Amino acid sequence: LRGESHPEINPKTTISHIAIYGAGIMGSGIVQVAAQSGYQVTLWDVTQANIDSGIHAIRTSLSKIARKTGQPADWVQSILTRISSTTDQLAACASADLVIEAVVENLSIKQDLLSHLDTVAKPTCIFATNTSSLLVADVAAKLNDERRQRTVALHFFNPVAVMKLVEIAYMDGTDPALLALLKAWVLDIGKVPVLCRDTPGFIVNRLLVPYNIEARQLVERGDATIEDVDTAMKLGAGYPMGPFELMDMTGLDTGYHIMKAWYGAAPGLAKDPRFKPSPEMEQMISSGYLGRKSGRGYYVYD
Ligand code: CAA
Repeated sequence: LRGESHPEINPKTTISHIAIYGAGIMGSGIVQVAAQSGYQVTLWDVTQANIDSGIHAIRTSLSKIARKTGQPADWVQSILTRISSTTDQLAACASADLVIEAVVENLSIKQDLLSHLDTVAKPTCIFATNTSSLLVADVAAKLNDERRQRTVALHFFNPVAVMKLVEIAYMDGTDPALLALLKAWVLDIGKVPVLCRDTPGFIVNRLLVPYNIEARQLVERGDATIEDVDTAMKLGAGYPMGPFELMDMTGLDTGYHIMKAWYGAAPGLAKDPRFKPSPEMEQMISSGYLGRKSGRGYYVYD
């Protein structure tokens, strides 16, 4: 059943209101694609300034798509009207059918957020985490049994507006009917779902993180330059970006948090020396060289 598609399922009969927590790059991207596909979305973040910056990113991305695809003048605004926002954590999810958290990659923050929301969310509401490195079972650890059974990962990729994949990660005992509904929802927002058991990094990051680490070690050993590694992987392996361009786009801090979490406690990966952040990486993070978002990472940005 897990591999089957279910064209008969119309996700809009079950999911109409979605609450998304976190107005960063990923959260705002998820808000955008859900609203673009006709869903009512509420965006929550701690401060109004964070929300404003997320909405600004959504407006910019929608305007780019509108120009490219020749949409009518009111297209961007018509999508933005489906998005509401609040800094009131509980109010955001009170009528939601699906909650997606995309807050900072910190286990206790995610656990506390979801258990707080659990007190007011509808019993039928589905909880999803956009975690890139943690286990769904750990993120859901403070939830009651019923809610835990309705909790999965919906893992999106950066830039969300462009990347077609969503990984759906499930735990032992996740209801196949819930997975079928979420696959239909992912298709409905114009993405392609893949399923994965609840393992560290799911599919993409389990392969991508060691690749990025190897690229960094190559440069740290002095075997090749950053520019030559990027050129080699684009022209020799057909990747759209080299590993350093990609790490700058996803954020060096994101990669750093993943490595620390895996080195610390991930099943089968803990204490694996590959995942211990190098002194060079520690130095970049503490100097604020986080990639595009801070204006400097492996490359310098305007
Ligand atoms: N909103 C809307 N449209 C966008 C956009 C955005 N935010 N960003 C790019 N686009 C559009 C552009 O308008 C352009 O459209 P046309 O081709 O129709 O003109 C198209 O996407 C390509 O963009 P660009 O021409 O600017 O640049 P590009 O061809 O180099 O593509 C890219 C950019 C899509 C990012 C491409 O380089 C790429 O696929 N890179 C790899 C991205 C990747 O691997 N992401 C996964 C990271 S891992 C992750 O996210 C998981 C995690 O947990 C850390």
